[in-house]
Amino acid sequence: MGLFGTVTAGVSPVSILKGRDCDLTNEDILGPYWEENHPYRSVLAHQNEPGTRIFISGIVTANDCDTPIQNAIVDVWHANDSGCYTIFQECDTGNPEEDPYNLRGQMLTGENGGYAFESVWPGYYTGRPRHFHYKITTPDELELVTQCYFEDDPQVDQQWIDSHPGLVIPLEEDINGLYGIFDIVMDEMEVQVGTLGESGPVPESPFLNQGYPNPFNNLTQIEYGISKPGHISISIYNVSGKWITNLANGHKASGTYLLEWSGTGADGKIVPSGPYLVVMKSAGFTGSKKMLFLK
Ligand SMILES: [Fe+2]
Repeated sequence: MGLFGTVTAGVSPVSILKGRDCDLTNEDILGPYWEENHPYRSVLAHQNEPGTRIFISGIVTANDCDTPIQNAIVDVWHANDSGCYTIFQECDTGNPEEDPYNLRGQMLTGENGGYAFESVWPGYYTGRPRHFHYKITTPDELELVTQCYFEDDPQVDQQWIDSHPGLVIPLEEDINGLYGIFDIVMDEMEVQVGTLGESGPVPESPFLNQGYPNPFNNLTQIEYGISKPGHISISIYNVSGKWITNLANGHKASGTYLLEWSGTGADGKIVPSGPYLVVMKSAGFTGSKKMLFLK
């Protein structure tokens, strides 16, 4: 059996990726065995841990299925080969180093939103299919709790697949173990900040400038800046205070930035003509400017 020599599931992870229609990753229950403060690591099982080695990787993206979310925390925990959870249960199998957090770990996603870990294939307990538990937290503190199951598992039938859409992944196998890809799509706005070019000089204090041109009929550009790195959000509201869309929502380095608004709401539709407010919030600063949109 060579590298990726046996495709046990019939469908390769690549074809799943290509066929994806950008559904958000579904939630699943947290279950009783999550614990705080899992150690940061990507190898969750000691080399002598009983069971089949498994290698899972994936990318965490925003709800366009394209924009990677960097520095998301991917928290994973699972049962051992005998279906036993450390911390909550006395596991008389496995855990050769008596690691209190055996088969538990957190990872941070990289620049491309990627994460990867190695462990052993989770065992069965109380009739549940094999599964990894996941809790993903973005830098904006958006949280998703879910689980990942496996096509090859005899406990996973079509009914299970239908009731857990997107959570059942195929596995490939080679001499080192099983390989799977579990991508995660979070319901987070695409961060559009800074896409118009390099950031400019760091201002002495945060600011939000009037959009230019104003009034505008197809595009206005809005300049803003922050003096310290941190979370910023820039949103559009109508003058009744109804939220229209987000233009930016995420962590930014200090600097001056330019972004655009083309008069579309979060649903992608052109908004009615009239006055709108652009509102910027960052640590210790809230600013707003009024703009007139004319179709
Ligand atoms: Fe579980």
